[in-house]
Amino acid sequence: MSSAPDIKTALPGPKAKAIIDRDARFVSPSYTRDYPFVIARGEGAMVEDVDGNRFLDCAAGIAVNSTGVSHPEVVRAITEQAQKFIHMSGTDFYYEPQVRLAEELAAIAPIAGNVRTFFANSGTETTEASIKLSRYFTKRQGIIAFLGAFHGRSLGALALTASKSIQRRGFGPMMPGVYHAPYPDPYRFNGSADACAAAALSFIEDQLLVHLVAPDEVAAIVVEPIQGEGGYVVPPAAFLQGLRELTTEHGMLLVVDEVQSGMGRTGRMFASEHFDLKADIVNIAKGIASGLPLGVTCARADVMTWPPGAHASTFGGNPVSCAAANATIKLLKDGLVANAATVGAHLLAGLRELQARHLLIGDVRGKGLMIGIELVHDRTTKERAVEERNALVQAMFRRGVLVLGAGKNAIRLAPPLVLSRDQADQVLRVFDEALVEIGTARR
Ligand SMILES: Cc1ncc(COP(=O)(O)O)c(C=O)c1O
Repeated sequence: MSSAPDIKTALPGPKAKAIIDRDARFVSPSYTRDYPFVIARGEGAMVEDVDGNRFLDCAAGIAVNSTGVSHPEVVRAITEQAQKFIHMSGTDFYYEPQVRLAEELAAIAPIAGNVRTFFANSGTETTEASIKLSRYFTKRQGIIAFLGAFHGRSLGALALTASKSIQRRGFGPMMPGVYHAPYPDPYRFNGSADACAAAALSFIEDQLLVHLVAPDEVAAIVVEPIQGEGGYVVPPAAFLQGLRELTTEHGMLLVVDEVQSGMGRTGRMFASEHFDLKADIVNIAKGIASGLPLGVTCARADVMTWPPGAHASTFGGNPVSCAAANATIKLLKDGLVANAATVGAHLLAGLRELQARHLLIGDVRGKGLMIGIELVHDRTTKERAVEERNALVQAMFRRGVLVLGAGKNAIRLAPPLVLSRDQADQVLRVFDEALVEIGTARR
């Protein structure tokens, strides 16, 4: 498949439109489809729709297709495993691919000391597992999470999620015992990165733990090392280090949600590595199995002490998903993490050049191929350019680049980690053209 966008029909084309019309009648209306992309096939970072239009994919199935679409090595691992057996349930029986993956995760997870892994099917389920494990281990109930966080949508995970109110509206009451603190956003904070970190930590120590819940009733603090759905916000390192100290001091567990930021996306295997952060529990999903459903909760071995029967899932750690994950990790180690770092740095530099020409771009931030671009009406007031962000997503789609929004007014770039430098340049070209189209170029 050629590695350039190529749009041949009006969008959606006739075949896409027919499928979308059927979807509108029979599929849950709760999904948020920003534009009418109906995939037929893909290769690497390119995807083709059912009408033969080709797009450069900077969404990767919401940061999932880490090795690109249907990487041959991953397909081979899936096929070989499927031919042997597709399911056996690791909760009641044993199979080697699951053990191998647990061994591998013990070696790479950003946790100090010995590590054990619980197997689930999604990011949400890893949040559930980490809530339950934290409560079980500490015999405490409280959980502290952050405003803007996304940890999933089951009722336990949803109590931690504080991203968009539509995600909670009509579903209350939420699980009790959850407290939210502001997540530090260096772009929106008026002061230095250290002051930004100190303010966020002070809210927890001097407000939340004083007025709302005693420290010895808090089981865990759950945090994204880079806030994903909330806008691809990169916090100051001192904030995450401070959380590590605070949790240790009070006997709380530090749960780090690497569901979106993990598996090479940031140019390191885990975003935590950028901040020298070691957690007690780490949740991983999305990119771990290149698109097959898998979520894992890794924990310090001395924390994961729950007894047989305490927690399990029939499908969790499915053998085909584990085989895909083992193949994915090999590909990541053999070059894709490094590629995410170099191509990501190139993309960030190019975006900063665009920022110099387009007043709409207030902030460009990120690590590796986890990049956020925040759009504002005015660089001094930082008034959020929500409509322009939405228009830009559409304009890029029409030009053959798939992107998603994040937060109220940011665009996220989360392409497969196989993205080439040349493809990154094409993304920059299209971004530039789309910005000109919506009329924001500096005259
Ligand atoms: C940081 C984070 N945690 C958890 C989840 C939930 O994962 P899933 O949709 O696989 O349940 C997401 C999904 O976007 C996420 O970004």
